[in-house]
Amino acid sequence: MKSIVIVISGRGSNMESLLKATAAGELPVRISAVLSNRPDAVGLRTAAAYGVPTQVVDHTEYASREAFDAAMAETIDGLGPDFVVLAGFMRILSDAFVQHFQGRLINIHPSLLPSFTGLHTHRRALQEGARIHGCTVHFVTPSLDHGPIIVQAAVPVLDGDDEVSLAARVLAQEHCVYPLAIRWLAEGRVRLVEGRVFLDTPQDGAAVLVSPPAQVAP
Ligand code: GRF
Repeated sequence: MKSIVIVISGRGSNMESLLKATAAGELPVRISAVLSNRPDAVGLRTAAAYGVPTQVVDHTEYASREAFDAAMAETIDGLGPDFVVLAGFMRILSDAFVQHFQGRLINIHPSLLPSFTGLHTHRRALQEGARIHGCTVHFVTPSLDHGPIIVQAAVPVLDGDDEVSLAARVLAQEHCVYPLAIRWLAEGRVRLVEGRVFLDTPQDGAAVLVSPPAQVAP
C-alpha cells in the first residue's frame, strides 16, 4: 500500500477529506503523518483526533526559506512517503524542495488552473466576471501553481455570489476531487509523461459541473 504525508498550514479541511476517505476504506493509502509549518494549525488537532501522527516544522525557527525547506525535506524523507500531499500549505516552496520531490509532490488549488494562480482566487474570479470557477489537483513544479493537472472540478458562479458563497461551493468539490486524485495515484493510475498526465481510469465523477449545464444530445 502506498503511503502519504499530508502538509498543512491551517484549517485542514482538505486533509480531513483524505483522513475520512481513508478511515472509510475508500482511499487505499497509509497516512504516515500530517506535518504543519504552524504549531497552531487547527488541522493538527483534527489529525490527532483521527489517530494520525503529527509533526510541526515551524518556519519561524529558520533563518531562511532554504533552511526551512531543507528541514521539511529531511522530516519528510525520514517518513519515506510515496507521495507528499499539500493541503492548504501556505508557503512558497524553493526550487530545491520541489525538485527533490518532483513527481511525488501534489497540490490542490482553488481555481481552474492556469487561471487565477496565487491568492484570493474567489475574489478575483468574481471581479473578472467568471461564470465558471473551480479547483485543480496538480503535480507541483517550480513555477507557482503550475504543473501537470490530474483532475479539476468546475462549479457555476451564480448571481448574488460573494467570496464566501463561492469559496464554499468550490471547497465542497475540493473535498471530492482530492480523495479521488490521491486514490488514482495510490492505485498507480496516473502516469506523468513528458510533463503531461495520462490517466488509466475512467474519469467517473471527476468533472462535476459546468455552467450552463452541458447539452445532452437527443
Ligand atoms: C483550500 O481552498 C485549498 O485549495 C487551498 O487552501 C485552502 C485550504 O483549506 N490551497 P483547508 O486548510 O484544506 O481547509
